Formats: sequence, structure tokens, C-alpha cells
Amino acid sequence: MKKILILNGSPTGAQGNCAQWIKILTTLLKKKAEVDVVHLVKTPFSSNLEKKIEAAAGIIFTTGTYWDSWGSPLQKFLEDMTDLEATPVVMGKPCAVFVLMHSVGGKSVLSRLQGVLSTMGFLIPPMSGMVYSLVSDIALKGKSSHAKDLWQKEDAELILENFLKACDLKLTWTTWPVDKKDPKRKWLRT
Ligand SMILES: Cc1cc2nc3c(=O)[nH]c(=O)nc-3n(C[C@H](O)[C@H](O)[C@H](O)COP(=O)(O)O)c2cc1C
Repeated sequence: MKKILILNGSPTGAQGNCAQWIKILTTLLKKKAEVDVVHLVKTPFSSNLEKKIEAAAGIIFTTGTYWDSWGSPLQKFLEDMTDLEATPVVMGKPCAVFVLMHSVGGKSVLSRLQGVLSTMGFLIPPMSGMVYSLVSDIALKGKSSHAKDLWQKEDAELILENFLKACDLKLTWTTWPVDKKDPKRKWLRT
């Protein structure tokens, strides 16, 4: 069975809404994959986590929306894993992204996060990310002919289908050159 790694970028970790969402995902992935869940607030980036990323056929990112952005543990993770950019650990590795929010900002988080992951070398399959909001959760309790146009919990299943299909792809990707010197070094002289 393929190994799937779920990285939760929310500061609330195992106690939060993303942890609830992860329960939905792990149920859907049962019998299809061997799932490992890492809450980045408790387990930040390390060589051990790098090994898990390397061993995984694909990575699922979850995060709440925090002031129009992703959670701070996820931001720290992205900064800390920068050395993996354009390396075989991440090149072409499929990602699915799930963003939670109350009402606004989540789509921009989803699009920007997918953009960052693609630039690092991850593969973003078609229809492999969604936003689920408190607003939708409330609205979907009522009946509406517009309901199909709202992302809903059930969409997680088709997103995982696309993601798992991408995990079976075997392609050799070409990488652009990356400056491997210290990216934190000072460049502004006064
Ligand atoms: C400090 C803070 C900032 C937030 N900012 C936003 C926001 O900009 N837009 C939004 O729709 N929801 C916002 N929320 C609501 C969270 O995105 C929402 O509750 C989400 O489910 C949190 O995920 P988590 O429980 O996994 O941490 C915010 C919540 C907190 C605590």
C-alpha cells in the first residue's frame, strides 16, 4: 500500500478543526493507503520528517485560515524545508490541499499555497484542493439549488481520487537550477 503523509499546518494541531477534517480524510483513505499524520505545531521540520516526506507517495496539506494566510506552523515548515526545493525528495511528489476558514480568505490561501508547493517542485494534480468554511457548513444545512456550487465535505472524496491517481504517475521531471548557497545571506549593502 502507498504511504500518504498528512501535514497539518494549523496552530491548533490535534485539537483543532483541521484535526477533525483529517478524520474524514483518514476514513476515506482506509484500505487505499497507509496514512501518517503529523501536526506541524508539535512536530516541526526535522531530518526525521524529511525522511517521512521522502518515503511518502504523496503529501496532503491541511490548514486553517489565519488572517488571510495559512497557519504559522506551516509557514515555519515551508521556511525550514527550503533546502529540499528542487530535490528528488519533493520533485513531482503529488499534493492535495485542504483549507478551512470561517468566511473569507481561504481560496487565496489555497491558490497561494498550491503556487508555493508547485514552485518548490511538488505536483499539483487537477482538482486536488478545496476550501471548507463555517459559512458553507451552516448554509448546507438548508436546501438550495445552488448547493452544488459550494465546496462540501463530500468533495474530499473526489479530490483524494485525483490525488491518488497522481501518486501512481511515474515521470521524470526536469529541474531548474537553484542557488544552493545560504538563502538567508545578506544581499543589501548600505
Ligand atoms: C487568529 C485567527 C485568525 C483567523 N483568520 C481568519 C480569516 O482571515 N478568515 C477566515 O475565514 N477565518 C479565520 N479564522 C477562522 C479559522 O480559519 C477557522 O476556525 C479554521 O477552522 C481554523 O482551523 P484550525 O481549527 O484547524 O486551526 C481565524 C481564526 C483565528 C483564531
